[in-house]
Amino acid sequence: MPDYERAAADRPLASVRRQGRFHPSRFCSKRPPVIAAGSRETLHQPPRHLLAMEGMHPPQIAALLDLAESYALLNRSGKTKRDLLRGQTLINLFFEDSTRTRTSFELAGKRLGADVINMSVSTSSVNKGETLLDTASTLNAMNCDLLVVRHDQSGAPALLAQKVDAAVINAGDGTHEHPTQALLDALTIRRHRGRLEGLVVAICGDVLHSRVARSNIHLLTTMNSRVRVVGPPTLIPSSIAALGVEIFHDMRAGLAGADVVMMLRLQRERMVGGLVPSAREYFRFFGLDAAKLANAKPDALVMHPGPMNRGVEIDSAVADDPQRSVIREQVEMGVAVRMAVLDTLSRGHGRNEP
Ligand code: NCD
Repeated sequence: MPDYERAAADRPLASVRRQGRFHPSRFCSKRPPVIAAGSRETLHQPPRHLLAMEGMHPPQIAALLDLAESYALLNRSGKTKRDLLRGQTLINLFFEDSTRTRTSFELAGKRLGADVINMSVSTSSVNKGETLLDTASTLNAMNCDLLVVRHDQSGAPALLAQKVDAAVINAGDGTHEHPTQALLDALTIRRHRGRLEGLVVAICGDVLHSRVARSNIHLLTTMNSRVRVVGPPTLIPSSIAALGVEIFHDMRAGLAGADVVMMLRLQRERMVGGLVPSAREYFRFFGLDAAKLANAKPDALVMHPGPMNRGVEIDSAVADDPQRSVIREQVEMGVAVRMAVLDTLSRGHGRNEP
């Protein structure tokens, strides 16, 4: 059997995992919501939730990327429908708009045979704390196994993880983290460069509001890449240096010799006050075009998590250049990474049961 098939097939049966589902301990769980950083015994154990990249260990990250790689090959081979999660319920709980992330999780769940339900909730008119707790008790009553949460408040998925029985995956919380985006970015880079260690990665633009940047910084520094953040002082919090990154306010200097150029969307919806003078001005200094890209390595990869503001943070000619841009591949790897995460968490979920 090819390695990728063995990797995907060699999992405990879904029925075995589900045995613990109705055990009373599930309703008074005191387990920590994420793997305790630095804890030896949890180092190689499947995590119970995926809430953040911060605190994850290199072997855990590498294991997720290896499994995702096997799913990427499986997806390309056309053998996508598996029954690993048959009988399990995955709920996509989105308190914020999303197309690509929600669809990607939906496809990943369906490809593994789960029953997938999409719930979109508006937070505008409700008391958020109360609603989250109410939602948690509703989800417990529904015996949801895997819960994918996106919320505009940082920390909301972690709060839910303390209250629900399901394994929780953070699909983006406020300006905090977006761990599956960082994993899919890392997988894309690793497929092209064969490694993460020692690479110079320039993360450019609206770092201040970006959960994508934060998750990528944690993942990449953990895997020993050299991370630079590049943007105007108004969009780069100086405290970010504490995460082990170099700060550049000049894009040409920030891109010099970079292996990877990761662009971020200008998140106007999160901005309070005028942090950038105008889209035109922003593009002139911090938009990625061929001239600025020429400062990076000749084969540097161009990435963007989407959705893109063309002509604001990135020029269409660069975004659509098949020689440089791996933006489409990022989307493809998103499904593989989410399959790997669902697979891994469903194992962690079952294995911890008595
Ligand atoms: C990102 C997000 O929502 O944080 N997009 C995504 O997940 N596809 C980045 C962004 O919105 O700019």
